[in-house]
Amino acid sequence: MQLSVIKEGKALIYIPDTRNAQIVKGIIEPSHLEVFYNPIMEFNRDLSVLTVNTFIELYWPGKEVLGIDPLSATGVRGIRYSLEINNISKVIINDIDKDAYNIMNKNIELNKVKNIEAYNRDANSLMRSIRFEQNRIINIIDLDPFGSILPFIDTAISVSSKGTLLALTATDLAVLGGSKYIAAKRKYRVNLINTKHYREIALRVLLAFIAYVAASYDKVIKPLMTYSVDHYARAYLLIDRGAKNSEEMLDKNIGYYKYENGILMKCDNHYGPVWNGNISDLEFLKSINNKLKEYSYVGTYERIEKFIKTYLNEIELQNYYYQRLDTICQMQKVNMPSIIKFISALEDKGYKATRSTFSSIGFRSNAPYEVLIETCKQFKSS
Ligand SMILES: C[S@@+](CC[C@H](N)C(=O)[O-])C[C@H]1O[C@@H](n2cnc3c(N)ncnc32)[C@H](O)[C@@H]1O
Repeated sequence: MQLSVIKEGKALIYIPDTRNAQIVKGIIEPSHLEVFYNPIMEFNRDLSVLTVNTFIELYWPGKEVLGIDPLSATGVRGIRYSLEINNISKVIINDIDKDAYNIMNKNIELNKVKNIEAYNRDANSLMRSIRFEQNRIINIIDLDPFGSILPFIDTAISVSSKGTLLALTATDLAVLGGSKYIAAKRKYRVNLINTKHYREIALRVLLAFIAYVAASYDKVIKPLMTYSVDHYARAYLLIDRGAKNSEEMLDKNIGYYKYENGILMKCDNHYGPVWNGNISDLEFLKSINNKLKEYSYVGTYERIEKFIKTYLNEIELQNYYYQRLDTICQMQKVNMPSIIKFISALEDKGYKATRSTFSSIGFRSNAPYEVLIETCKQFKSS
């Protein structure tokens, strides 16, 4: 296999030479490379380095910390954790594919990383072996599968302990978000409707599903940060233990939603089940923001800075579902005003409103359904 070298964060990474890759609709399709590498995910990985570092400082200061990246491909994520996070003691990287295993070993050598172990195993059997045969506590698990987390989530939860950070990326947004609602019923046991609000629904379906898996192991999830951008949803979940705690988690956070006149609303029994509790922890986001400057060297720094700034405001209103100005205006047959004007109109009426990281025409507000419609109608003649 011919290789190229790229730089990401502080790491130099061998990737398959993209000149040999298949081109789909004019762009390189990362999953058609001999070993997977997707440059679009640099933002995801840059933000992960920052987030995992913040997590360790808050939850495991001065302690031995073991992280596992069991679906590593080139090893880029785990190698970056090892190079760019001072307080991580050991990182395990792994891939079932032999070519990936060979590349990750070359990448370990290229970057001269010492605190890393590489494996060529099935991710589930490796995670179980590390936890139950080698009896090691896993502090950080980072799942980055092709598509759905379903093949790995049960094991990830079962090998987690109190205080583990479970990070995961899901790229099956069409299923999780309701556009493929028949597949969603089969895979995630949810009844969904196809809307443009798929990012919000995808995150909340994912969280509800993982919460049920966690509860089946007498475990609890607490979302520290979750978000959805590009083609994926990302979650950072803190694991806790206890049968009673897990019952309380389900009682408090599992609910349903309805969709009327282009507006998404929480309700007691309609579409779902979804996670209607917090999707991120404001204090954790503030800690990430405080650490941001240390990572000013990463390639997507400006995007991260902008994202965190918007997200800090958005999360203040996370009890209210994300809305889209286009669907509300479409139902009222109103030409869509600018999102800034619409948010100001809500604020003028004494409500809170903020833009959303989910889309440039998205917002969150504590204004009730009737006020959203009435405010939209105000723009009818303008
Ligand atoms: C989306 S890629 C990982 C990308 C990588 N984390 C990154 O940031 O570039 C998913 C990887 O999972 C590997 N994989 C799929 N099933 C697996 C399994 N059961 N056990 C271990 N690896 C697996 C694939 O070979 C592929 O390299």
